[in-house]
Amino acid sequence: MSTTVFNQLYLDYESEENQSYYGQIGEKLLQYIRKYKDNFEEILDICCGTGIVSQKLREQYGQANIVGLDISQNMLSIAEAKRLENVSFYQYDVNKIETYEQKVDLIICNYGIQWLNLRTIGSIGDTLRKGGIFACTLPGYTIGNVKVEQGASSFIGNMIFKAIIDVSKSKKEYLSLRYPKKIISTWSDCIEASQVIDMAKQNGLELLENKVEKFTIEFKDVKNLVCSILARGTFGNTFADVKETFLYDLIERLEELQCKYQNCCEENISQYLVFQK
Ligand SMILES: C[S@@+](CC[C@H](N)C(=O)[O-])C[C@H]1O[C@@H](n2cnc3c(N)ncnc32)[C@H](O)[C@@H]1O
Repeated sequence: MSTTVFNQLYLDYESEENQSYYGQIGEKLLQYIRKYKDNFEEILDICCGTGIVSQKLREQYGQANIVGLDISQNMLSIAEAKRLENVSFYQYDVNKIETYEQKVDLIICNYGIQWLNLRTIGSIGDTLRKGGIFACTLPGYTIGNVKVEQGASSFIGNMIFKAIIDVSKSKKEYLSLRYPKKIISTWSDCIEASQVIDMAKQNGLELLENKVEKFTIEFKDVKNLVCSILARGTFGNTFADVKETFLYDLIERLEELQCKYQNCCEENISQYLVFQK
């Protein structure tokens, strides 16, 4: 099963659930942006992934030139295949944004900012024209110590971290494995919203909007949920060397939770930030 899981990662990023997951977050962010400005000429979609948000930008800002940047060629190949008019995609490490020469009037980053260096947030303002907008979303729950909400609403998706830890502790053979540690340290290293706000303000950006919103998303089954979660951002890399049996056990553990809670939903809690230069 794990081979299927791994082979599906990039394709699954475009699955209905994932499209809807990132699409809904991106859509809400676009609504917040529209409150402040509704006309852009040059747009940069950083950490654009498979172009879910680039496509929405294309539909909304008919005249704009749009550039999508992402470090993963696999993600970009899916974006390129969409053949969006006047949208160019480039493989690019956004942590080197200070080398990006073109100034733009909108920089958008949907669920990618948490993977960047804090220093990079400082350089984002330099790529914006005066009056330009920088808007981003990132996980709204605490990720520093991997604190997840649980119980109250019976959402098993939020318990995946706990399931990973449970599974890794459950069998002797996993105790020596490094992925639970790797997963947790990857998430502990993530930038949090408060850091983004401080850094952006220090670099002359004004905070216009700061909202936390929730929505739920229903998955067909646990395997689907696991595929979706693995396909997201650095989870793909984090799980790249995970043993097949670990994945079986993880799916089994999540299926137990699914039975207990009678659903296979994930609660998304996101933070939406909009700044202006
Ligand atoms: C969770 S995905 C979000 C993709 C897209 N914005 C969307 O809404 O579907 C995070 C993306 O950030 C990209 N990423 C992570 N670190 C990056 C970096 N240093 N430079 C460029 N892209 C990066 C990953 O390759 C991945 O495609």
